[in-house]
Amino acid sequence: MKTKILVTGGLGFIGSHTVVALQEKGYDVVIIDNLSNSDISVLEGITKITGVRPEFEAIDLRDKAKVIDFFNRHSDIKGIIHFAASKAVGESVQKPLLYYENNINTLIYLLQQMQDKEIRNFIFSSSCTVYGEPDSLPITEAAPIKPALSPYGNTKQIGEEIIRDTAKAYPEFNSIALRYFNPIGAHPTAYIGELPLGVPQNLIPFVTQTAAGIRQELSVFGDDYPTPDGTAIRDYIHVVDLAESHVVALERLLNNRQKANFEVFNIGTGRGSSVMEIIKSFEKVNGLKLNYKIVGRREGDVTSVWADTSLAEKELGWKARLSMEDALRDAWHWQQKISK
Ligand code: WQD
Repeated sequence: MKTKILVTGGLGFIGSHTVVALQEKGYDVVIIDNLSNSDISVLEGITKITGVRPEFEAIDLRDKAKVIDFFNRHSDIKGIIHFAASKAVGESVQKPLLYYENNINTLIYLLQQMQDKEIRNFIFSSSCTVYGEPDSLPITEAAPIKPALSPYGNTKQIGEEIIRDTAKAYPEFNSIALRYFNPIGAHPTAYIGELPLGVPQNLIPFVTQTAAGIRQELSVFGDDYPTPDGTAIRDYIHVVDLAESHVVALERLLNNRQKANFEVFNIGTGRGSSVMEIIKSFEKVNGLKLNYKIVGRREGDVTSVWADTSLAEKELGWKARLSMEDALRDAWHWQQKISK
């Protein structure tokens, strides 16, 4: 019998790549997704890559009755990887209650069902945003959590706290929170990738859409940061590597190898790249020129963030294999495919 894993938000950017990684390792996957920021065609992409069509249910996790009904019908789930959430920082400032409902209520309903149905293993999508502007670099998991800069960031902090308290109260409950740095790229087959809604807020989709002629010009938000070239630095991780980290984290839980029943790991590459370095690398690996201009800083942006990944390496045996250049090439192939 194959081990069955529930992936919420499994048609989203990171979720879909994780479904591929799980299926390639022989897991049975059931996806829940409300299609609010994803497309049903992603199911075909996953099927093309893996040769297996995952089970899929279009459920909105805010609908508690539907969530209960789902778990009543799927008694064989052994673990949950929970991606379903809203993630636009700016929108969260405009619509805080929507973000708290989407990201917190749904988490609670899932955890309640896990308790009720004795499902033990839970992987949570957290974010390096919990660190705010770091006091020292690279950032380790022991760095202090800073007051969140947005309701979105706050939902990740609160989410971790809810899980930590649950783990304390129920020793049989096992959980890992993965704090992602900046996920980019697409599957090298270009069958799945990122599908941003409307005008992209994140750097790489804006870069690829500019290269494709959908946007006229990329705005570089600030060149007066205290960094070598004046632009802000982030730790960009290929989504295929990120997806892989979920499988190893899940297996740590399934095989009872964790050291505490709630653990937190940074998932990045350990390497920082500036916005200017991203632009130059994108141009170089893809052999094209990007239209860009320097504008003022974006409110709420921090100067530099990159991960210390030694804990994930030591405990999970996981390390990013792909480079930022690989990710920029794959992102561009994907963009070319979807803009045809
Ligand atoms: C990267 C760099 C921008 C767009 C955010 C969330 C985080 C996470 C990922 C999500 C910054 C610069 C960007 C543009 C630019 N969570 N930039 N021009 O802000 O590091 O992280 O997304 O689910 O929680 O905060 O990522 O891709 O928006 O920006 O110059 O048009 O690119 O200023 O330095 P960020 P990003």
